[in-house]
Amino acid sequence: MKTAEAIEALSNEQRRFPPPPEFAAQANAQPGIYEEAERDVESFWAGWARKLEWIKPFTRVLEWNEPFAKWFADGQLNATANCLDRHVKAGLGNRVAYNWEGEPGDRRTITYQQLLEEVCRLANGLRALGVRKGDRVAIYMPMIPELPIAMLACARIGAPHSVIFGGFSPDSIVDRVNDSECVALITTDQGWRRGNKIPLKDNCDAAMASTPSIKHCIVVKRVGDPVEMREGRDLWWDDVVKGQSAQCEPEPMNAEDLLYLLYTSGTTAKPKGIKHTTGGYLTEVTMTHKLVFDLKNDDVYWCAADIGWVTGHSYIVYGPLCNGATSVIYEGTPDFPERDRLWSIVERYKVSILYTAPTAIRTFMRWGTEYPERHDLSSLRLLGSVGEPINPEAWMWYRQHIGGGRCPIVDTWWQTETGAIMISPLPGVTTTLPGSATRPLPGTFADVVNDQGESVPPGGGGYLVLTRPWPGMLRGIWGDDQRYRDTYWSRFPHKYLAGDGCRRDLDGNYWFMGRIDDVMNVSGHRISTTEVESALVEHPQVAEAAVVGRLDELTGQAICAFVCLRGGAAGSNVLADELRAHVGARLGKFTTPKYLTFTHELPKTRSGKIMRRLLRDIAEGRILGDTTTLADSAVVHELQERAKLEATKEE
Ligand code: PRX
Repeated sequence: MKTAEAIEALSNEQRRFPPPPEFAAQANAQPGIYEEAERDVESFWAGWARKLEWIKPFTRVLEWNEPFAKWFADGQLNATANCLDRHVKAGLGNRVAYNWEGEPGDRRTITYQQLLEEVCRLANGLRALGVRKGDRVAIYMPMIPELPIAMLACARIGAPHSVIFGGFSPDSIVDRVNDSECVALITTDQGWRRGNKIPLKDNCDAAMASTPSIKHCIVVKRVGDPVEMREGRDLWWDDVVKGQSAQCEPEPMNAEDLLYLLYTSGTTAKPKGIKHTTGGYLTEVTMTHKLVFDLKNDDVYWCAADIGWVTGHSYIVYGPLCNGATSVIYEGTPDFPERDRLWSIVERYKVSILYTAPTAIRTFMRWGTEYPERHDLSSLRLLGSVGEPINPEAWMWYRQHIGGGRCPIVDTWWQTETGAIMISPLPGVTTTLPGSATRPLPGTFADVVNDQGESVPPGGGGYLVLTRPWPGMLRGIWGDDQRYRDTYWSRFPHKYLAGDGCRRDLDGNYWFMGRIDDVMNVSGHRISTTEVESALVEHPQVAEAAVVGRLDELTGQAICAFVCLRGGAAGSNVLADELRAHVGARLGKFTTPKYLTFTHELPKTRSGKIMRRLLRDIAEGRILGDTTTLADSAVVHELQERAKLEATKEE
């Protein structure tokens, strides 16, 4: 569907789903909470912060030295004491923290007591290796229990972690590790994916040739095939934890000490190391997890995201553990061994809350209803969506075929930078509409503004901004305060620019329209157009490349590359495949362009800027308007003809 049509369709969305009365009556969040937050937002957040366990209580709430925020700055706490010790002390040691299921079918149940002990052993092991408070530790792992254990062990001793999604390539590891000079890297021999073995340790070996700061590489044995272990640098996880005590004093951390870095794509080729600190972040992820997912003691909660992205950090690790939740973690893909894997997991563990992404939902739609129908999904009581705009058809399908028509759906808008959910229904309070994330949560202040930064009245669209600091907000970009100011705070004075286009309807509901910058969103993964372009031009035969996101029914957007070859050479299918493979190897397979077109020239303005918007129009088959500002308008015609051919091929 074209953007304009999509916007039109959304504006006409008439369906409304008020919370079911039984749900509303028992919900953690009741309607008065919005006014409560509005009345005095700082005491509202301080109230939630006080529900955490502080080693030294805070007396100050917010210090706002725009654009740098400090929350609860004179307080001290440790994230893992809040995630683990607190529950064990309260007698909940035997409660299950994680029901884990491996892709081949192996299973593990880990209680809070066991998780605490494993975290302490690794924390002691890290200390024994010389890892100190403030040192950065990189983690590159599949979805196995050792991944959250590694993150928590770092947090225990005050070493910020930097998790690198397991789909990234060695070069991407190098960039991230070197940017923040990590001292250790925690990984796995190999991982399972759709029955295949993923060479994680090999990727680390390739990366470690260019990461001088890494002193140790700790390796979990997951698959069991032999891997190279370099004497003096590489250690098996089992040896690191062997003989270590199951007790480890948590390091007292200032509320504003760094908890982690998480790299995300921006509009340049260099990823940004987003900084999240301890007290404010924990406060907000805990609050949103409790209210948006309406978490109760007997819930079985499953966020089916990967821990390598922020969704997993906030809503598989820190939020759920702080709330003492029982979660599910699944290692593999939803179609292994069959397309009903997720539903068999929901049935087995009696999952009551499921949080997943629109791309996954659209994939399930395509596969058909027979797979969810094979299983008893009656344990579900709430569904969530995250990562990209959800189209109303997918929303309705999710509601009907997964939620049995009875579960409220929370469409949650947020970002790596926001740390926690910002715009979302509260499931017992908000009337939902298919396709809308509804409105800002209590304590969150958003607006939609025009080019001049003026608030757009209801019914209009523009840029989504956040107008007040919030506890879980990023504290900046690692090593680059200027980029932090430029990216988020320079376009509109005193407003955080999220980078999303958004429309507000007459009732004040927010409808997200996708990114307004050069960032693509493919299956909920943020990928920078510039990053893919630089990977392409690294290839010896490529002279120039332009990359745009093209609307895609399944993945939201698909990567579409226009490539000019050196010496004006014509391309071939073989070379196109080679270039695709090159990008995949350079950045990670999930960044491989779906479409690749050769052209003798790229459309540019007279000043030499590539006209990406025009390329997007071409890629999406839109009729073009005025191209007179172009240096060479013949190229547009050529590209249009090719795009038509591509479209025919696809059908
Ligand atoms: O464009 C928005 C989209 O994902 C971007 C953030 O990506 P990332 O930092 O990787 O975090 C993803 C998980 C929180 C946003 O700028 N996005 C995320 N959730 C939604 C969304 N777009 C529309 N609706 C959502 N619910």
